[in-house]
Amino acid sequence: MPQTLNSIAHQGANGPAMMPIIQGVGRAAAEISYLLRGAVFRGALGAAGGENVQGEQQQKLDVLSDEIFLDEMRSTGFVCAVGSEEQEELQVIEEYAHADYLVLVDPLDGSSNLDIDGPVGTIFSVVRRRSAPDGAPVEADTLQSGREVLAAGYVLYGPATMLVCSVGEGVHGFTWNPNSARFELSHPDMRIPEQGGYYSVNEANADKWLDGLAEKFARMKRETGLGMRYVGSMVADMHRTLLKGGVFLYPADEKNPNGKLRLLYEAIPMGFLVEQAGGRAMSRGGSVLDIVPEGLHQRVPVYLGAARAVDMLAG
Ligand code: AHG
Ligand code: MN
Ligand code: MN
Repeated sequence: MPQTLNSIAHQGANGPAMMPIIQGVGRAAAEISYLLRGAVFRGALGAAGGENVQGEQQQKLDVLSDEIFLDEMRSTGFVCAVGSEEQEELQVIEEYAHADYLVLVDPLDGSSNLDIDGPVGTIFSVVRRRSAPDGAPVEADTLQSGREVLAAGYVLYGPATMLVCSVGEGVHGFTWNPNSARFELSHPDMRIPEQGGYYSVNEANADKWLDGLAEKFARMKRETGLGMRYVGSMVADMHRTLLKGGVFLYPADEKNPNGKLRLLYEAIPMGFLVEQAGGRAMSRGGSVLDIVPEGLHQRVPVYLGAARAVDMLAG
């Protein structure tokens, strides 16, 4: 019998409570993947006409994926609120406002790839609420460092749809099996290879990088001999980095003095997975996981991957 998402219930102290929430992520993933495959026929590609709180053009699929994800978190009965890249404010789930957990999500990551049928993803993490359960959850409940995260993961909508997650007991990858219509364990205990792999960065920004990165980067390339790959979809670039090794970075530059990627929706969940897979997750001056968030939509520079390459860049 293949292992399904139920098996998460047997993983460590957090597994039992996280299993139904990750199953909810799995249901959202199945729906979003179906939506993506038929989007061109339903006129669902292209801009939605609005901007999100970060001033970025929202795609129709960003908005639809966000709705699907929120509905599936509601249906678990264990989530009191969702913080989303696509929503300015925390979305409280009124029916379950007393529940114990909050979920943070980038519902559709890499949306610049949508028009070219490129890979995109969903990124999530789960924290326990801190406010008393008799009132509604508040934004401050989400402002917890990566050390407090109970579970995190991503879905990659590639040739196959994969759900890769951790409840603090290693990183495990499940692949959607279209025959059985469920996620089945395909990549148990993913570990980042210490040698080999690729560097992955938008090198077009190199002359604008801050923090003295250009010199460190040139040395890293010389000394490691790593090859280069860049999709421009963090989930796809990180999935490759986890499986093949090397480093993914989105550093600070003149245009993005705090980097581009969001601490709560991208940096913390991916940093949590990288550390669980035996790698290194750094930001400016320390671990991504030690940063205490100050706001829902905060951005940070990130250097994620195998220790050797990360240390040469972020050290
Ligand atoms: P999103 O689509 O959720 O806004 O995220 C896009 C992010 C991330 O997926 C990727 O690593 C990065 O933007 C690529 O940025 P550049 O186009 O500046 O390289
Ligand atoms: Mn993203
Ligand atoms: Mn997004």
